[in-house]
Amino acid sequence: MSGSPVPVRTPLPHVLEGRTVVLVGGSSGIGLAAGLLLRAVGARMVVVARDEARLAAAAAAIRAAAPGPGGPGDPGAAVLTRAADACDEEALRRALDPVDSIDHVLVTAGTLVMGPLAELDRGAGSVVVDSRLWAAYSAARVTESRLPAGGSLTFVSGDFVRRPLPGTALAAAGLGAVEALTRGLAVELAPRRIRVNTVRAGGTDTPLTRSFFGRGADPDSGAAAAAIAAAGAATPLGRLAGPQEVAAAALFLMANPYVTGSVLTVDGGQTLG
Ligand SMILES: NC(=O)c1ccc[n+]([C@@H]2O[C@H](COP(=O)([O-])OP(=O)(O)OC[C@H]3O[C@@H](n4cnc5c(N)ncnc54)[C@H](OP(=O)(O)O)[C@@H]3O)[C@@H](O)[C@H]2O)c1
Repeated sequence: MSGSPVPVRTPLPHVLEGRTVVLVGGSSGIGLAAGLLLRAVGARMVVVARDEARLAAAAAAIRAAAPGPGGPGDPGAAVLTRAADACDEEALRRALDPVDSIDHVLVTAGTLVMGPLAELDRGAGSVVVDSRLWAAYSAARVTESRLPAGGSLTFVSGDFVRRPLPGTALAAAGLGAVEALTRGLAVELAPRRIRVNTVRAGGTDTPLTRSFFGRGADPDSGAAAAAIAAAGAATPLGRLAGPQEVAAAALFLMANPYVTGSVLTVDGGQTLG
């Protein structure tokens, strides 16, 4: 048990200036949006995903978005990339071993697999569970001993936990497991003043959803944009979330030193109806 309470500091996101955040799944969608927001508040980051080309493109986009902690001539050390499969704990450990310090971790790695009970066998289902539960668990195991008092782990779950659709039972089970993991680890790590939270996202406009609603159309195409607009039209606020709106909730959870064990919903009221 730590002798001191969690440090008191401002809960505003600028407290993340100069801190190092590991973004597991940071090369696309919500994770990439978090990288762009973190850059704007002067954080350092390590972006982890599997595909090296997408990682390099994401790092370039983040560096170009704002001057980093190294100033306008930021040599790049403020945005590192590491290629690893987050479901492979040893690969993740090797990827993060050389990183000097880690203050916060955001895990957005995940894959959407949907299908009816009769068609999704255990093999297919384990992809869903591995990419959510085990990615979060592995990231926690690899980083917890290195996080400081006041540091945090943040995961992402989804509205399917509260409002499943036919064909989403396994996806919902994986997301629900992440929420249960959040509460369990929050209790376990609180004595070391490490906080654990989850953002529960509703439908969000990312390459993942563009590919799903656009039925495989190029995510940047007009057809995918129209499919996203149609999917959002029936929601209470008339559109899906932007990835930065979900990512901003993750920054709130990192920055606020008195939040732990929380599941923060950012869904535009999609589960109200
Ligand atoms: N978009 C939504 O509407 C929505 C709603 C609720 C919840 N969520 C959840 O939020 C998370 C992020 O979604 P998103 O829409 O931002 O997805 P996305 O645009 O597809 O981004 C997913 C990111 O995770 C990485 N990734 C996937 N599997 C990985 C693995 N095994 N190891 C390391 N990196 C991995 C991907 O890069 P690589 O493929 O190169 O590894 C990519 O950087 C997902 O878990 C999703 O289920 C999304």
